[in-house]
Amino acid sequence: GSLQSRVLRGPAATLTGNPFEQPSRGCLAYHDDALVVIEEGIITAFGPHAELKDALPAGSEVTHYPDHLIVPGFIDAHVHYPQMQVIGAYGTQLLEWLETYTFPAEMSFADAGHARRVAHLFLRELLRAGTTTAMVYCTVHSQSVEAFFHEAARFDARMIAGKVLMDRHAPAGLLDTAQRGYDESLALIERWHGRGRALYCVTPRFAPTSTEAQLDAAGALLKTRDGLFLQTHLCENPAEIEWVRELFPARASYLDVYAHAGLVGPRSMFGHGIHLHEGDFCTCHQAGAALAHCPTSNLFLGSGLFRLFEAVDPRRPVMVGLGTDVGGGTSLSQLQTLNEAYKVAAMVGHKLDAVQGFYLATLGGARALGLDGKIGQLAPGMEADLCVLDPRATPFMAFRAGYCASIEEVLFMLMTLGDDRAVRATYVAGRCVYDRDREDDPFRP
Ligand code: GUN
Ligand code: ZN
Repeated sequence: GSLQSRVLRGPAATLTGNPFEQPSRGCLAYHDDALVVIEEGIITAFGPHAELKDALPAGSEVTHYPDHLIVPGFIDAHVHYPQMQVIGAYGTQLLEWLETYTFPAEMSFADAGHARRVAHLFLRELLRAGTTTAMVYCTVHSQSVEAFFHEAARFDARMIAGKVLMDRHAPAGLLDTAQRGYDESLALIERWHGRGRALYCVTPRFAPTSTEAQLDAAGALLKTRDGLFLQTHLCENPAEIEWVRELFPARASYLDVYAHAGLVGPRSMFGHGIHLHEGDFCTCHQAGAALAHCPTSNLFLGSGLFRLFEAVDPRRPVMVGLGTDVGGGTSLSQLQTLNEAYKVAAMVGHKLDAVQGFYLATLGGARALGLDGKIGQLAPGMEADLCVLDPRATPFMAFRAGYCASIEEVLFMLMTLGDDRAVRATYVAGRCVYDRDREDDPFRP
Protein backbone atom coordinates (compact mmCIF):
# COMPACT_ATOMS: atom_id res chain seq x y z
CA GLY A 1 0.00 0.00 0.00
CA SER A 2 1.00 3.65 -0.35
CA LEU A 3 1.56 4.07 3.39
CA GLN A 4 4.55 1.72 3.49
CA SER A 5 7.97 2.79 2.44
CA ARG A 6 8.99 1.41 -0.89
CA VAL A 7 12.11 1.72 -2.97
CA LEU A 8 12.56 1.49 -6.73
CA ARG A 9 16.00 0.72 -8.07
CA GLY A 10 17.28 1.06 -11.63
CA PRO A 11 18.47 3.57 -14.21
CA ALA A 12 16.52 6.80 -13.69
CA ALA A 13 16.24 10.20 -15.36
CA THR A 14 14.49 13.42 -14.42
CA LEU A 15 14.38 16.97 -15.72
CA THR A 16 15.92 19.57 -13.42
CA GLY A 17 15.64 22.70 -15.58
CA ASN A 18 14.01 24.18 -18.67
CA PRO A 19 15.83 23.04 -21.85
CA PHE A 20 14.04 25.70 -23.89
CA GLU A 21 15.86 28.36 -21.86
CA GLN A 22 19.26 26.77 -21.24
CA PRO A 23 21.37 24.03 -22.87
CA SER A 24 19.66 20.65 -22.69
CA ARG A 25 22.69 18.87 -21.26
CA GLY A 26 22.38 20.85 -18.02
CA CYS A 27 18.68 20.09 -17.61
CA LEU A 28 18.68 16.31 -17.18
CA ALA A 29 19.79 14.35 -14.12
CA TYR A 30 20.55 10.72 -14.98
CA HIS A 31 21.86 7.92 -12.78
CA ASP A 32 22.56 4.51 -14.31
CA ASP A 33 21.81 2.86 -10.97
CA ALA A 34 19.48 4.99 -8.87
CA LEU A 35 17.23 4.56 -5.88
CA VAL A 36 13.86 6.28 -5.57
CA VAL A 37 12.78 6.10 -1.94
CA ILE A 38 9.05 6.54 -1.34
CA GLU A 39 7.30 7.00 2.00
CA GLU A 40 3.56 7.54 2.36
CA GLY A 41 3.22 8.29 -1.33
CA ILE A 42 5.94 10.95 -1.39
CA ILE A 43 9.49 10.68 -2.77
CA THR A 44 11.82 11.13 0.21
CA ALA A 45 15.15 10.48 -1.54
CA PHE A 46 16.45 10.17 -5.09
CA GLY A 47 20.04 9.56 -6.08
CA PRO A 48 22.73 7.02 -6.90
CA HIS A 49 22.32 3.60 -5.28
CA ALA A 50 25.88 3.77 -3.97
CA GLU A 51 25.09 6.94 -2.03
CA LEU A 52 21.66 6.03 -0.68
CA LYS A 53 21.79 2.28 -0.11
CA ASP A 54 22.95 2.49 3.52
CA ALA A 55 20.32 5.02 4.55
CA LEU A 56 17.13 3.20 3.53
CA PRO A 57 14.15 3.20 5.91
CA ALA A 58 13.95 0.00 7.94
CA GLY A 59 12.01 -2.76 6.24
CA SER A 60 11.94 -1.09 2.80
CA GLU A 61 10.79 -3.26 -0.02
CA VAL A 62 13.11 -2.78 -3.02
CA THR A 63 11.77 -3.35 -6.53
CA HIS A 64 14.60 -3.62 -9.02
CA TYR A 65 14.22 -2.61 -12.67
CA PRO A 66 17.65 -3.27 -14.20
CA ASP A 67 17.88 -2.27 -17.89
CA HIS A 68 14.77 -0.11 -17.57
CA LEU A 69 14.41 3.63 -17.10
CA ILE A 70 12.51 5.19 -14.21
CA VAL A 71 11.07 8.60 -15.11
CA PRO A 72 8.40 10.85 -13.64
CA GLY A 73 4.85 9.89 -14.64
CA PHE A 74 3.74 11.63 -17.82
CA ILE A 75 1.38 14.61 -17.77
CA ASP A 76 -1.29 14.93 -20.47
CA ALA A 77 -2.30 18.59 -20.61
CA HIS A 78 -5.35 18.14 -22.86
CA VAL A 79 -7.56 15.10 -23.38
CA HIS A 80 -11.27 14.24 -23.75
CA TYR A 81 -12.18 11.00 -22.02
CA PRO A 82 -15.66 10.79 -23.64
CA GLN A 83 -14.05 10.69 -27.09
CA MET A 84 -12.41 7.26 -26.68
CA GLN A 85 -15.20 5.83 -28.83
CA VAL A 86 -14.52 8.12 -31.80
CA ILE A 87 -10.73 8.03 -31.90
CA GLY A 88 -9.64 7.54 -35.49
CA ALA A 89 -12.90 8.75 -37.09
CA TYR A 90 -12.44 9.20 -40.81
CA GLY A 91 -12.32 12.13 -43.09
CA THR A 92 -13.20 15.48 -41.50
CA GLN A 93 -11.72 18.67 -40.10
CA LEU A 94 -12.64 20.18 -36.75
CA LEU A 95 -16.15 21.65 -37.13
CA GLU A 96 -17.54 18.79 -39.22
CA TRP A 97 -15.75 16.27 -36.98
CA LEU A 98 -17.52 17.74 -33.93
CA GLU A 99 -20.95 17.54 -35.61
CA THR A 100 -20.49 14.14 -37.21
CA TYR A 101 -18.68 12.13 -34.56
CA THR A 102 -17.97 13.98 -31.35
CA PHE A 103 -21.30 15.45 -30.31
CA PRO A 104 -23.18 12.16 -30.92
CA ALA A 105 -20.55 10.31 -28.87
CA GLU A 106 -20.81 12.79 -26.02
CA MET A 107 -24.62 12.39 -26.00
CA SER A 108 -24.17 8.82 -24.80
CA PHE A 109 -22.78 10.17 -21.50
CA ALA A 110 -26.30 11.08 -20.43
CA ASP A 111 -26.23 7.42 -19.32
CA ALA A 112 -24.27 7.27 -16.05
CA GLY A 113 -23.47 3.59 -16.58
CA HIS A 114 -21.85 4.34 -19.92
CA ALA A 115 -19.87 7.17 -18.33
CA ARG A 116 -18.59 4.83 -15.60
CA ARG A 117 -17.56 2.16 -18.10
CA VAL A 118 -15.68 4.59 -20.32
CA ALA A 119 -14.04 6.37 -17.34
CA HIS A 120 -12.82 2.98 -16.13
CA LEU A 121 -11.37 2.09 -19.54
CA PHE A 122 -9.85 5.54 -20.00
CA LEU A 123 -8.00 5.52 -16.68
CA ARG A 124 -6.63 2.05 -17.36
CA GLU A 125 -5.39 3.16 -20.75
CA LEU A 126 -3.81 6.32 -19.34
CA LEU A 127 -1.91 4.33 -16.72
CA ARG A 128 -0.91 1.74 -19.33
CA ALA A 129 0.60 4.64 -21.28
CA GLY A 130 2.55 5.85 -18.23
CA THR A 131 0.41 8.96 -17.78
CA THR A 132 -0.31 9.74 -14.14
CA THR A 133 -1.83 13.22 -14.41
CA ALA A 134 -4.22 14.50 -17.07
CA MET A 135 -6.28 17.62 -17.62
CA VAL A 136 -9.54 16.15 -18.80
CA TYR A 137 -12.69 17.32 -20.54
CA CYS A 138 -15.77 15.43 -19.45
CA THR A 139 -19.14 16.14 -21.14
CA VAL A 140 -21.89 18.61 -20.33
CA HIS A 141 -23.44 15.98 -18.03
CA SER A 142 -22.51 16.24 -14.33
CA GLN A 143 -22.54 12.47 -14.06
CA SER A 144 -19.68 12.25 -16.58
CA VAL A 145 -17.56 14.25 -14.11
CA GLU A 146 -18.74 12.17 -11.17
CA ALA A 147 -17.81 9.00 -13.04
CA PHE A 148 -14.36 10.31 -13.91
CA PHE A 149 -13.36 11.59 -10.47
CA HIS A 150 -14.81 8.52 -8.83
CA GLU A 151 -12.66 6.26 -10.98
CA ALA A 152 -9.53 8.44 -10.51
CA ALA A 153 -10.01 8.33 -6.73
CA ARG A 154 -9.62 4.53 -6.82
CA PHE A 155 -5.98 5.12 -7.74
CA ASP A 156 -5.55 8.31 -5.74
CA ALA A 157 -4.41 9.88 -9.00
CA ARG A 158 -3.63 13.59 -9.43
CA MET A 159 -6.31 14.38 -12.02
CA ILE A 160 -7.78 17.66 -13.20
CA ALA A 161 -11.19 17.59 -14.86
CA GLY A 162 -14.40 19.48 -15.36
CA LYS A 163 -17.89 19.57 -16.79
CA VAL A 164 -18.05 20.98 -20.30
CA LEU A 165 -20.04 24.22 -20.55
CA MET A 166 -22.02 24.68 -23.78
CA ASP A 167 -25.13 26.82 -24.14
CA ARG A 168 -25.39 27.16 -27.94
CA HIS A 169 -24.45 25.68 -31.33
CA ALA A 170 -24.65 22.04 -30.25
CA PRO A 171 -27.44 19.42 -30.15
CA ALA A 172 -30.13 20.16 -27.54
CA GLY A 173 -29.11 17.13 -25.48
CA LEU A 174 -25.66 18.64 -24.96
CA LEU A 175 -26.69 22.14 -23.95
CA ASP A 176 -26.88 23.72 -20.53
CA THR A 177 -27.55 27.41 -19.85
CA ALA A 178 -25.27 30.01 -18.32
CA GLN A 179 -27.08 29.63 -14.98
CA ARG A 180 -27.38 25.85 -15.01
CA GLY A 181 -23.78 25.41 -16.12
CA TYR A 182 -22.70 27.67 -13.26
CA ASP A 183 -24.81 25.86 -10.66
CA GLU A 184 -23.79 22.38 -11.74
CA SER A 185 -20.11 23.33 -11.96
CA LEU A 186 -20.22 24.89 -8.50
CA ALA A 187 -21.76 21.74 -7.05
CA LEU A 188 -18.98 19.67 -8.65
CA ILE A 189 -16.34 22.07 -7.37
CA GLU A 190 -17.71 21.75 -3.84
CA ARG A 191 -17.77 18.00 -4.13
CA TRP A 192 -14.44 17.32 -5.83
CA HIS A 193 -11.96 20.21 -5.86
CA GLY A 194 -9.19 19.30 -3.44
CA ARG A 195 -10.81 16.00 -2.44
CA GLY A 196 -7.87 13.62 -2.26
CA ARG A 197 -5.74 14.55 -5.26
CA ALA A 198 -8.65 15.68 -7.47
CA LEU A 199 -8.64 19.21 -8.84
CA TYR A 200 -11.47 20.95 -10.67
CA CYS A 201 -11.19 22.66 -14.02
CA VAL A 202 -13.80 25.15 -15.28
CA THR A 203 -14.36 23.94 -18.86
CA PRO A 204 -16.14 26.13 -21.42
CA ARG A 205 -15.69 23.98 -24.55
CA PHE A 206 -14.72 26.87 -26.85
CA ALA A 207 -16.00 30.32 -27.74
CA PRO A 208 -18.46 29.19 -30.48
CA THR A 209 -20.47 26.98 -28.10
CA SER A 210 -20.75 29.48 -25.24
CA THR A 211 -22.62 32.77 -25.14
CA GLU A 212 -20.87 35.74 -23.65
CA ALA A 213 -23.07 35.25 -20.58
CA GLN A 214 -21.71 31.73 -20.15
CA LEU A 215 -18.09 32.81 -20.58
CA ASP A 216 -18.69 35.46 -17.91
CA ALA A 217 -20.19 32.77 -15.66
CA ALA A 218 -17.04 30.69 -16.20
CA GLY A 219 -14.98 33.68 -15.07
CA ALA A 220 -17.16 33.98 -11.97
CA LEU A 221 -16.75 30.26 -11.22
CA LEU A 222 -12.96 30.63 -11.25
CA LYS A 223 -13.25 33.04 -8.33
CA THR A 224 -15.27 30.69 -6.11
CA ARG A 225 -12.29 28.67 -4.81
CA ASP A 226 -8.51 28.91 -4.72
CA GLY A 227 -6.53 26.88 -7.19
CA LEU A 228 -9.24 26.21 -9.76
CA PHE A 229 -8.16 25.55 -13.35
CA LEU A 230 -9.54 26.74 -16.68
CA GLN A 231 -9.41 24.83 -19.95
CA THR A 232 -10.77 25.55 -23.39
CA HIS A 233 -9.79 25.46 -27.07
CA LEU A 234 -8.07 28.32 -28.89
CA CYS A 235 -7.12 29.04 -32.51
CA GLU A 236 -7.12 25.44 -33.68
CA ASN A 237 -8.62 25.60 -37.15
CA PRO A 238 -9.07 28.39 -39.74
CA ALA A 239 -12.86 27.91 -40.14
CA GLU A 240 -13.26 27.91 -36.35
CA ILE A 241 -11.29 31.14 -36.05
CA GLU A 242 -13.38 32.81 -38.74
CA TRP A 243 -16.55 31.73 -36.92
CA VAL A 244 -15.31 33.25 -33.67
CA ARG A 245 -14.56 36.48 -35.51
CA GLU A 246 -18.19 36.58 -36.72
CA LEU A 247 -19.64 35.67 -33.32
CA PHE A 248 -17.55 38.19 -31.34
CA PRO A 249 -16.99 41.12 -33.73
CA ALA A 250 -16.15 43.48 -30.87
CA ARG A 251 -13.13 41.45 -29.70
CA ALA A 252 -9.62 42.13 -30.92
CA SER A 253 -8.72 38.44 -31.20
CA TYR A 254 -9.93 34.94 -30.34
CA LEU A 255 -7.82 35.02 -27.17
CA ASP A 256 -9.35 38.40 -26.31
CA VAL A 257 -12.79 36.74 -26.17
CA TYR A 258 -11.49 34.69 -23.25
CA ALA A 259 -9.49 37.53 -21.69
CA HIS A 260 -12.60 39.72 -21.67
CA ALA A 261 -14.39 37.10 -19.55
CA GLY A 262 -11.50 36.82 -17.08
CA LEU A 263 -10.42 33.40 -18.33
CA VAL A 264 -6.74 34.12 -19.10
CA GLY A 265 -4.55 33.68 -16.04
CA PRO A 266 -2.39 31.24 -14.09
CA ARG A 267 -3.71 27.65 -14.40
CA SER A 268 -5.49 28.51 -17.67
CA MET A 269 -4.71 25.88 -20.31
CA PHE A 270 -5.57 26.66 -23.93
CA GLY A 271 -5.68 23.72 -26.28
CA HIS A 272 -3.90 23.97 -29.66
CA GLY A 273 -3.07 27.69 -30.14
CA ILE A 274 -1.81 26.92 -33.62
CA HIS A 275 -2.74 30.15 -35.32
CA LEU A 276 -1.73 32.68 -32.66
CA HIS A 277 -0.06 36.01 -33.25
CA GLU A 278 2.81 37.61 -31.38
CA GLY A 279 0.38 39.73 -29.35
CA ASP A 280 -1.43 36.59 -28.19
CA PHE A 281 1.85 35.00 -27.06
CA CYS A 282 2.64 38.20 -25.11
CA THR A 283 -0.80 38.11 -23.46
CA CYS A 284 -0.31 34.47 -22.40
CA HIS A 285 3.19 35.21 -21.13
CA GLN A 286 2.07 38.18 -19.05
CA ALA A 287 -0.98 36.36 -17.68
CA GLY A 288 0.90 33.14 -16.83
CA ALA A 289 -1.48 31.18 -19.05
CA ALA A 290 -0.33 28.03 -20.85
CA LEU A 291 -0.85 26.30 -24.19
CA ALA A 292 -1.35 22.59 -24.83
CA HIS A 293 0.59 21.30 -27.83
CA CYS A 294 -1.50 18.50 -29.38
CA PRO A 295 0.47 17.30 -32.41
CA THR A 296 -1.31 14.02 -33.17
CA SER A 297 -4.64 15.84 -33.20
CA ASN A 298 -3.36 18.79 -35.16
CA LEU A 299 -2.09 16.44 -37.85
CA PHE A 300 -5.08 14.07 -37.80
CA LEU A 301 -7.66 16.86 -38.10
CA GLY A 302 -5.48 18.79 -40.54
CA SER A 303 -5.50 21.78 -38.19
CA GLY A 304 -1.95 23.00 -38.74
CA LEU A 305 1.57 23.09 -37.33
CA PHE A 306 1.99 24.51 -33.81
CA ARG A 307 5.00 26.85 -33.59
CA LEU A 308 6.39 25.46 -30.35
CA PHE A 309 9.73 27.24 -30.44
CA GLU A 310 8.02 30.56 -31.10
CA ALA A 311 5.68 29.98 -28.15
CA VAL A 312 8.51 29.25 -25.71
CA ASP A 313 10.79 32.04 -26.99
CA PRO A 314 12.86 32.96 -23.88
CA ARG A 315 12.26 36.67 -24.50
CA ARG A 316 8.59 36.19 -23.49
CA PRO A 317 8.17 32.48 -22.84
CA VAL A 318 4.71 30.95 -22.86
CA MET A 319 4.42 27.75 -20.83
CA VAL A 320 3.54 24.73 -22.95
CA GLY A 321 2.26 21.30 -21.95
CA LEU A 322 1.88 18.26 -24.16
CA GLY A 323 -1.66 17.08 -24.92
CA THR A 324 -2.87 13.94 -26.62
CA ASP A 325 -6.29 15.49 -27.37
CA VAL A 326 -7.86 12.06 -27.78
CA GLY A 327 -10.25 11.61 -29.67
CA GLY A 328 -9.05 14.30 -32.12
CA GLY A 329 -5.63 12.94 -31.24
CA THR A 330 -4.77 9.40 -32.17
CA SER A 331 -2.90 8.02 -29.15
CA LEU A 332 -2.95 8.29 -25.36
CA SER A 333 0.81 7.65 -25.35
CA GLN A 334 2.97 10.69 -24.61
CA LEU A 335 5.81 8.84 -26.36
CA GLN A 336 3.79 8.69 -29.57
CA THR A 337 2.75 12.31 -29.03
CA LEU A 338 6.43 13.30 -28.80
CA ASN A 339 7.11 11.32 -31.95
CA GLU A 340 4.71 13.61 -33.81
CA ALA A 341 5.90 16.71 -31.91
CA TYR A 342 9.39 16.12 -33.25
CA LYS A 343 8.10 15.91 -36.83
CA VAL A 344 5.93 19.01 -36.47
CA ALA A 345 8.95 20.95 -35.18
CA ALA A 346 10.97 19.62 -38.11
CA MET A 347 8.31 20.86 -40.54
CA VAL A 348 8.74 24.42 -39.25
CA GLY A 349 12.53 24.30 -39.19
CA HIS A 350 13.30 23.34 -35.58
CA LYS A 351 14.79 20.39 -33.74
CA LEU A 352 13.00 19.07 -30.65
CA ASP A 353 15.67 17.17 -28.74
CA ALA A 354 14.90 14.33 -26.36
CA VAL A 355 15.49 16.38 -23.22
CA GLN A 356 13.11 19.05 -24.51
CA GLY A 357 10.60 16.36 -25.39
CA PHE A 358 10.66 14.74 -21.96
CA TYR A 359 10.49 18.21 -20.40
CA LEU A 360 7.19 18.87 -22.18
CA ALA A 361 5.80 15.53 -21.01
CA THR A 362 6.89 15.94 -17.36
CA LEU A 363 8.32 19.05 -15.66
CA GLY A 364 7.18 21.48 -18.37
CA GLY A 365 3.64 20.13 -18.13
CA ALA A 366 3.74 20.42 -14.35
CA ARG A 367 4.90 24.04 -14.58
CA ALA A 368 2.23 24.83 -17.17
CA LEU A 369 -0.36 23.52 -14.69
CA GLY A 370 1.21 25.26 -11.70
CA LEU A 371 1.79 21.83 -10.14
CA ASP A 372 5.60 21.84 -10.15
CA GLY A 373 6.74 21.10 -6.63
CA LYS A 374 4.10 18.35 -6.51
CA ILE A 375 4.57 16.37 -9.73
CA GLY A 376 6.80 16.21 -12.81
CA GLN A 377 10.19 15.38 -11.26
CA LEU A 378 12.02 12.72 -9.32
CA ALA A 379 13.04 14.69 -6.25
CA PRO A 380 12.45 14.65 -2.49
CA GLY A 381 9.05 16.10 -1.60
CA MET A 382 7.41 15.20 -4.91
CA GLU A 383 4.36 12.99 -5.09
CA ALA A 384 5.53 9.52 -6.11
CA ASP A 385 3.97 9.26 -9.58
CA LEU A 386 6.41 7.31 -11.72
CA CYS A 387 6.69 5.50 -14.99
CA VAL A 388 9.14 2.65 -15.59
CA LEU A 389 10.07 2.56 -19.27
CA ASP A 390 11.47 -0.44 -21.10
CA PRO A 391 13.83 0.63 -23.91
CA ARG A 392 13.90 -3.00 -25.13
CA ALA A 393 10.12 -3.47 -25.19
CA THR A 394 10.05 -5.01 -28.67
CA PRO A 395 12.65 -6.99 -30.61
CA PHE A 396 13.20 -4.03 -32.89
CA MET A 397 13.61 -1.62 -29.99
CA ALA A 398 16.04 -4.01 -28.32
CA PHE A 399 18.06 -4.07 -31.53
CA ARG A 400 17.96 -0.28 -31.88
CA ALA A 401 18.81 0.25 -28.20
CA GLY A 402 22.05 -1.63 -28.83
CA TYR A 403 23.14 1.30 -31.00
CA CYS A 404 22.29 4.02 -28.46
CA ALA A 405 25.45 5.50 -26.97
CA SER A 406 23.96 7.93 -24.43
CA ILE A 407 20.90 8.50 -22.28
CA GLU A 408 19.82 11.20 -24.74
CA GLU A 409 19.88 8.65 -27.58
CA VAL A 410 17.89 6.17 -25.50
CA LEU A 411 15.30 8.85 -24.72
CA PHE A 412 15.09 9.87 -28.36
CA MET A 413 14.70 6.27 -29.47
CA LEU A 414 11.89 5.87 -26.89
CA MET A 415 10.10 8.96 -28.16
CA THR A 416 10.37 7.78 -31.75
CA LEU A 417 9.63 4.07 -31.41
CA GLY A 418 7.95 3.86 -28.02
CA ASP A 419 4.29 3.54 -27.12
CA ASP A 420 2.31 1.76 -24.40
CA ARG A 421 4.38 -1.38 -24.97
CA ALA A 422 7.42 0.49 -23.66
CA VAL A 423 5.73 1.12 -20.30
CA ARG A 424 6.81 -1.66 -17.96
CA ALA A 425 5.05 -0.29 -14.85
CA THR A 426 3.26 2.79 -13.55
CA TYR A 427 3.20 4.02 -9.94
CA VAL A 428 0.69 6.46 -8.53
CA ALA A 429 1.29 7.95 -5.07
CA GLY A 430 3.89 5.24 -4.55
CA ARG A 431 1.62 2.35 -5.41
CA CYS A 432 2.06 0.14 -8.48
CA VAL A 433 -1.17 0.60 -10.44
CA TYR A 434 -0.01 -1.07 -13.64
CA ASP A 435 2.49 -3.81 -14.33
CA ARG A 436 2.78 -4.94 -17.93
CA ASP A 437 4.14 -8.34 -16.99
CA ARG A 438 1.57 -9.24 -14.37
CA GLU A 439 -1.27 -11.56 -15.27
CA ASP A 440 -3.73 -10.49 -12.59
CA ASP A 441 -5.53 -7.16 -12.70
CA PRO A 442 -3.35 -4.61 -10.90
CA PHE A 443 -6.11 -2.06 -11.41
CA ARG A 444 -8.07 -3.50 -8.51
CA PRO A 445 -6.87 -1.51 -5.52
N1 GUN B 1 -12.84 22.42 -30.25
C1 GUN B 1 -14.02 22.38 -29.60
N2 GUN B 1 -14.26 21.15 -29.12
C2 GUN B 1 -13.22 20.38 -29.48
C3 GUN B 1 -12.91 19.00 -29.28
O1 GUN B 1 -13.64 18.23 -28.67
N3 GUN B 1 -11.73 18.58 -29.81
C4 GUN B 1 -10.90 19.41 -30.48
N4 GUN B 1 -9.76 18.92 -30.96
N5 GUN B 1 -11.18 20.70 -30.69
C5 GUN B 1 -12.33 21.17 -30.20
ZN1 ZN C 1 -9.54 19.13 -27.37
